[in-house]
Amino acid sequence: MPHGAANSLIAAWQDAPWQQDVRRRLLAWFRNHARTLPWRSEPTLYRVWVSEIMLQQTQVATVLPYFERFISQLPDVQSLAAIPESDLMKLWEGLGYYRRVRSMQAAAKQIMSVHNGNFPTSFDELIVLPGIGRYTAGAILSIALDKRLPILEGNTQRVYSRLMGLKQSPTAPDANRLLWQFAESILPRRGCGVLNQALMELGALICTPRSPACDNCPLRTRCYAAEHTMQETIPGKLTKLKYEDRTEFAFVVTNREKSKYLVREIPSGRRWAGLWDFPRSSEQKFAAADDAANWLAIAEGVDLQAGTKQLTLKHAVTRFRITLHVYQARLVGGKSNAPHDWYFASSDELRSLPMSTTGRKIVNRLLSP
Ligand code: ADE
Ligand code: SF4
Repeated sequence: MPHGAANSLIAAWQDAPWQQDVRRRLLAWFRNHARTLPWRSEPTLYRVWVSEIMLQQTQVATVLPYFERFISQLPDVQSLAAIPESDLMKLWEGLGYYRRVRSMQAAAKQIMSVHNGNFPTSFDELIVLPGIGRYTAGAILSIALDKRLPILEGNTQRVYSRLMGLKQSPTAPDANRLLWQFAESILPRRGCGVLNQALMELGALICTPRSPACDNCPLRTRCYAAEHTMQETIPGKLTKLKYEDRTEFAFVVTNREKSKYLVREIPSGRRWAGLWDFPRSSEQKFAAADDAANWLAIAEGVDLQAGTKQLTLKHAVTRFRITLHVYQARLVGGKSNAPHDWYFASSDELRSLPMSTTGRKIVNRLLSP
């Protein structure tokens, strides 16, 4: 087969000279533009792990103060495995997606028991730990140990799609397979951790979801999307999450002196386990406060009489758009009639207990006149 014909069967990104030029340009740009981040200046396995889990659903600017506080209080796997759950939740309060930190602690306990406290250094050992998928295992081992492993997350999904000219939705199975192939083919022999970070950094700073800064992009001469003015249409639409509207009710019950509030620690296995909360009809459908109060009496043993509405909060949890009505309520039979896991907390205690975002909003409203 003539040389030109064979070449026409492969895409530009599969060509070694294209790959080399992209790496060279990207690394030159990264040397000058990389943000100074605490997990970059000292990329140990543990610190990179913590940073990658925090960054999964949260912006770098939000993560920074949490990262410093987390690392100074829990400097190693051993301390993370040992910290009481409520202290751990307090360290994470405000970052959301609490499953992430519960998985981290479960993984830390496994590292203590299965690996004698030594952080695993192979992909196969990491991928079986709670909360660590293909991306996270690749990111940890490439960044901390420079292992030759590909990465694919939100930023790189967009960057690769545009460079390749991948017009499908990047989450379609065929497209996802191609994206992982790209991620692997772009890796150099050495310096994979730096290259992976440079790819993510380009996505965060230049190749942004809307109006990417192609004029300032080191890869524009090698980019399919820029060449075809398709940077606004690639990547294709992600399959849209369907939201479901839901109404929930929470109840504020005070003691007679109105100085304490009825709360309890959410049992394990529930949404927000380990956080503290007011009586709430979570994950249930009710039209009115009285129905929700009835359900709480049966399901939780807190027999409430709903009073007047105090406030309404709107928030989103996974695929639910929740309208939360907060009512004053009275405990039928008085204070002694609350089940043993419920507790009347003072305002000081409410300030320091770990709570969900809406629980915290209710507290703030209660404690500020
Ligand atoms: N997003 C997630 N991990 C990242 C990293 N290591 N560098 C830049 N952005 C990121
Ligand atoms: Fe993204 Fe534009 Fe750079 Fe292409 S040229 S990688 S679309 S910023």
